[in-house]
Amino acid sequence: MVLQMQIKAEFFGGYMRFHLIFLTLLGLSLTALAACGDSVPERGTEEMAQLAERAADLRPSDPRLRDIYERSCINCHSLAASSAPLTGDAVGWAPRLAKGNTVLMENTIGGFQGMPPMGMCSDCSVQEFRALIEFLATGEN
Ligand code: HEC
Repeated sequence: MVLQMQIKAEFFGGYMRFHLIFLTLLGLSLTALAACGDSVPERGTEEMAQLAERAADLRPSDPRLRDIYERSCINCHSLAASSAPLTGDAVGWAPRLAKGNTVLMENTIGGFQGMPPMGMCSDCSVQEFRALIEFLATGEN
């Protein structure tokens, strides 16, 4: 009987400890998430390679956009090794879209960190950029 209670107490103690560790970990990851704000969650190389493989196959349906995309955007936005958000990667694009259309267009035209001015398409119009950004973010149009 005493032994049984001891076993129970030990089991319960272990259970509580497990819960405490779990809650601590949960708290830590929530703090990390809050600290990151809008940034993309860390993803493994395998997941990124799969996303890049899919990105490499995607094309805009419009022939003119397809042409621009193939001579410009695809060279970075379909490579896992590039820091560019991948075509059709909704998770990667979410924090970009959250900046709003005006900022995205400014950064596309003026350049932004590794993103060259006008995405290296000097003859692209604002409308074409808008359509291309939508395509990059969704993988469709
Ligand atoms: C030479 C490589 C390269 C090419 C070509 C390129 N991009 Fe990018 N692009 C990048 C990189 C790298 C980033 C990520 C920049 C960062 O956040 O550090 C990016 C980011 C972006 C963003 C998000 C900007 C932001 O404010 O977060 C948009 C929109 C974009 N590219 C559109 C395009 C379009 C449209 C094309 C084709 C016309 C294109 N890019 C061609 C490398 C490229």
